Amino acid sequence: MRRFLVLAALFLTVLASSRRHRLLRKLLQKPVNYDDAPSNVETVWYTNMRLDHFTWGDTRTFDMRVMWNNTFYKPGGPIFFYTGNEGALESFVTATGIMFDLAPQFNASIIFAEHRFYGKTMPFGNDSYATLANVGYLTSEQALADYAELLTDLKRDNNTLGKTFPANTRVISFGGSYGGMLSAWFRQKYPHLVQG
Ligand SMILES: *[C@@H]1O[C@H](CO)[C@@H](O)[C@H](O)[C@H]1NC(C)=O
Ligand SMILES: *[C@@H]1O[C@H](CO)[C@@H](O)[C@H](O)[C@H]1NC(C)=O
Ligand SMILES: *[C@@H]1O[C@H](CO)[C@@H](O)[C@H](O)[C@H]1NC(C)=O
Ligand SMILES: *[C@@H]1O[C@H](CO)[C@@H](O)[C@H](O)[C@H]1NC(C)=O
Repeated sequence: MRRFLVLAALFLTVLASSRRHRLLRKLLQKPVNYDDAPSNVETVWYTNMRLDHFTWGDTRTFDMRVMWNNTFYKPGGPIFFYTGNEGALESFVTATGIMFDLAPQFNASIIFAEHRFYGKTMPFGNDSYATLANVGYLTSEQALADYAELLTDLKRDNNTLGKTFPANTRVISFGGSYGGMLSAWFRQKYPHLVQG
């Protein structure tokens, strides 16, 4: 029995180390913790986000969390933009390897924006969910307008985040689940900002 176990372990090890058995290697790997702070992005804050994009009388703002990676970006390249969904941004960065896989081929900048009222992007701090009046600002329309404002600002000189992209920079939107719906709506509602 012990000999069998040793042989079985040896067999599995050999299988797992061979390139053809990626699935098995995956199964033997430590599970990914999607809530860990990802090490392949830098966290920056857009500190002047309008609370209400659809009125002119309300000048309140909040801080929106952004994670980006400009390692592969070269002038002329696009922005790969993740429309954050209902959760802390860390998990979406960790779960969206496709943006990191494709960025080198396209000289792309990788930008993830956190959805208002999730993770650390709390328009009213700890009181964000305290009243209906506060939580009334949690809508997909407002969230998309946040992303539109961020991208517009990134093409301005001397912008909040300190990195300016050329005005003709193309934006390709990414997302999964509700974030995928946001991504498609983003293209539909802001076609002058989002090319794909
Ligand atoms: C950007 O992502 C790549 C691939 O994950 C990584 O090698 C690189 O260190 C990252 N850059 C930064 C500044 O985190
Ligand atoms: C990426 O940048 C390099 C160097 O500037 C350039 O040669 C290449 O054509 C660019 N790739 C794309 C897809 O634009
Ligand atoms: C919000 O709540 C957290 C956890 O209870 C606490 O650590 C933090 O100090 C609070 N922030 C403010 C601004 O009250
Ligand atoms: C950006 O900052 C530079 C240096 O401070 C300044 O010369 C330039 O006018 C500014 N541009 C805009 C559009 O404010």
